[in-house]
Amino acid sequence: MKIVITGGAGFIGRRLALKLLEKNDLDFGRGQGAPDKVIAFDVGEPDPPFPDDPRLEMVTGDVSDPDQLRALITPDTDAIFHLAAVVSAGAEADFDLGMRVNLGGTRAVVDVCRELGTNPRLVFASSVAVFGGLVPDVIRDDTHLTPQTSYGSQKAAGELLINDYSRKGFLDGRALRLPTVVVRPGKPNKAASTFASSIIREPLQGQAVDCPVAPDQPMWLLSPRRVVDAFIRAAELPAEAWGPSRAVSIPGITHTVQEMVDALTRIAGKNVSDRINWKPDPAIQAIVSGWPMLFAAERGKALGFEADESMEEIIQAFIEDELGGTFVR
Ligand SMILES: NC(=O)c1ccc[n+]([C@@H]2O[C@H](COP(=O)([O-])OP(=O)(O)OC[C@H]3O[C@@H](n4cnc5c(N)ncnc54)[C@H](O)[C@@H]3O)[C@@H](O)[C@H]2O)c1
Repeated sequence: MKIVITGGAGFIGRRLALKLLEKNDLDFGRGQGAPDKVIAFDVGEPDPPFPDDPRLEMVTGDVSDPDQLRALITPDTDAIFHLAAVVSAGAEADFDLGMRVNLGGTRAVVDVCRELGTNPRLVFASSVAVFGGLVPDVIRDDTHLTPQTSYGSQKAAGELLINDYSRKGFLDGRALRLPTVVVRPGKPNKAASTFASSIIREPLQGQAVDCPVAPDQPMWLLSPRRVVDAFIRAAELPAEAWGPSRAVSIPGITHTVQEMVDALTRIAGKNVSDRINWKPDPAIQAIVSGWPMLFAAERGKALGFEADESMEEIIQAFIEDELGGTFVR
């Protein structure tokens, strides 16, 4: 079984690659088994490097280059996870780069899949940023896509391509509208939502951190563990399960930033949460307040996708998975 992950050195791609390698009962519609080959394709190198595993191959390159993709996505490819992207504030700051990678890269991936003639399974990482502006209080799966950023527009265009290429039988696609995934390890990235990880991660490691949005700002959240499970589930669901739309909002939990901080206080103590300084940044606040934060996600639940139980569960998972079970009190 061969699997290709674009953006495979990134936060989610890396975890997905390692999780896939643990499985021996994957089923992408061509029979059950373990992966023989997982190719992580990315413009950057993984940090830290991948562990040694002869089944895991790291290939560096640009997702918007069809020739490079043709060398990877071959007829024996069972599933493609397309995660490579310039994230939200990055795509907003550099319009041309966002268009080339987020729209051009997705177009290149779906066209190379089409050329195979094998109708391969493709899972695309979309985002709640496809919604925005004057949206209803609660977003449903059939709410109109009204993105208010270039990133959200590029993700919405990707969803439409996935739907149309699936309808035509060029590929068997699925697009997951991901909540903000927390807690991300390492350094802050260029996503406008990066603070949602920083306000948990930095205080637990003894560092002060600035929070750029107001305490009453709600966020739609999912843990790295659950997002990886969601990608694998999406790839394993049969085509018949999806119906006319291949896009789905993945269930998450909604918490205000203050509720996130309160959960941190309950787990780690006030000493830790006092390391957060409230320093409003109007540019970040404007992007984040444009995102809807309440989702019915009924279709996602019916398809078997699962949210975390609580913010505490998310923080505990971060302490276990990334901090070796301990933190700076
Ligand atoms: N993490 C979240 O909260 C979240 C929420 C919604 C959607 N998403 C989407 O999920 C996907 C993965 O997100 P992530 O958090 O792992 O982000 P990430 O930035 O860690 O990973 C994206 C990867 O894409 C790579 N990349 C960028 N340009 C490339 C190019 N031209 N060619 C090849 N690779 C390129 C980057 O080097 C990076 O490793 C992205 O598509 C993102 O838009 C993430």
